[in-house]
Amino acid sequence: MKLFNQGIPRGSAMSYAALLEKIEILRSTLRWATTLQRDDIEKLLRQANVLRDDVMQLSHKERFVQAVGAEPGPAKSTGERRQALLARSFVFEGTFGDNPRLLDALEIAEKAAPTDLPVLVDGESGTGKELMAKVIHANGSRADKPYISVNCGAIPDSLLESELFGHKKGAFTGAATDRRGKFESAHHGTIFLDEIGELPLPGQVKLLRVLQSHEIQRVGSDETISVDTRIVAATNKNLRRLIEQGLFREDLFYRLSVIHLTLPPLRERKDEIPLLIAYYCDEAAEALKRRPVKTTARLRDFLLGYAYPGNIRELRNIVYRMSCLAGETADLSHLPEDIRPAAARGQVQPAAVALSMSEAKRIASDEAERACLERGLQETSGAVAELARRWEMNRSHLQILLKKHGMHSKDFRKEA
Ligand SMILES: Nc1ncnc2c1ncn2[C@@H]1O[C@H](COP(=O)(O)OP(=O)(O)OP(=O)(O)O)[C@@H](O)[C@H]1O
Ligand SMILES: [Mg+2]
Repeated sequence: MKLFNQGIPRGSAMSYAALLEKIEILRSTLRWATTLQRDDIEKLLRQANVLRDDVMQLSHKERFVQAVGAEPGPAKSTGERRQALLARSFVFEGTFGDNPRLLDALEIAEKAAPTDLPVLVDGESGTGKELMAKVIHANGSRADKPYISVNCGAIPDSLLESELFGHKKGAFTGAATDRRGKFESAHHGTIFLDEIGELPLPGQVKLLRVLQSHEIQRVGSDETISVDTRIVAATNKNLRRLIEQGLFREDLFYRLSVIHLTLPPLRERKDEIPLLIAYYCDEAAEALKRRPVKTTARLRDFLLGYAYPGNIRELRNIVYRMSCLAGETADLSHLPEDIRPAAARGQVQPAAVALSMSEAKRIASDEAERACLERGLQETSGAVAELARRWEMNRSHLQILLKKHGMHSKDFRKEA
């Protein structure tokens, strides 16, 4: 029985003609088959699955083209755009509000996700480029296929080719076995090329070749291997400037940036800050097994006005830090020292100046006490009686200490 070769054009080469051919082969297989064994049925089923994937891929592409060319219609408010994204079950591992620039980026990501078009994401450090790459993968037809991340800035030049394309045993000193590279691992899935601006020129030439031919060769091998890999690249560099400086190939830039997304820095989407703070307060509370930390009005003012050179990553770190250090309510004193406003620095740190020795001791001892209680409750999963027994302490005294620190044993209880 002739079953068609699944190596027929896939990915970007997929067309209606190729699809029809596959359907015809499947039909004639069925028409002329007199008996079908289980094995044959399995094969046909697999072919039907491939066919279904291809149809979906084509329809996604079509929808993307339609969406790009669609009439904007009456302008939607940012709130409506946000709601519409959520209503369309847009997968996003984070939070987003009504910021128009962020919504622009998310809408483009949503439309680009189901296609195989390469996407270039740029933006300052910590603006969410990697998250965006995962979003593009998760919202596309390859979501259940591999997502492979490569940090182009972290691979020594000498290992780059082997890392990306694999090698044959004995290809170079240290190549003890055959090894497949990242492109092969990402076959049918997505490869995320992070820090693409760090890729040295020889690596850029090799990457360009793969983008053009959809084929790779392992180092030390003559065999060409087809790879069907969706590419998302990210950089915090200005690639156009690198092109002017002769450090980045223009042809590669155009290959990578069919869809180009720029993530705005947090200081240019300040309206998102309260949402992000609330999101991370909850997340940190869960991670630290505590109630979400509250914030004083002056701390909130600071957090809303701060410039966040490290963008969302920095905000996240600040919230985790204050959730760890503060009791019920965080204040300016729980900010990292290097960004704390001078006035607050004067209040909290002057142990040697304004605070008496006993006051400084009390603060230090309180902090140690809280950390100790937290550890104890974690170890006993919130069983106060057990903790009192372990520490040979009066149980009601232990309860008083918990109350003093605003801690609740039930927050440490594990779900059955
Ligand atoms: N909209 C968002 N909601 C919640 N968290 C977010 C959002 N955007 C980004 N983050 C978080 O911010 C942190 C930084 O994001 P990410 O690592 O994607 O940034 P990046 O641009 O790749 O940074 P870098 O250039 O330093 O590699 C991550 O913890 C990520 O989960
Ligand atoms: Mg990153």
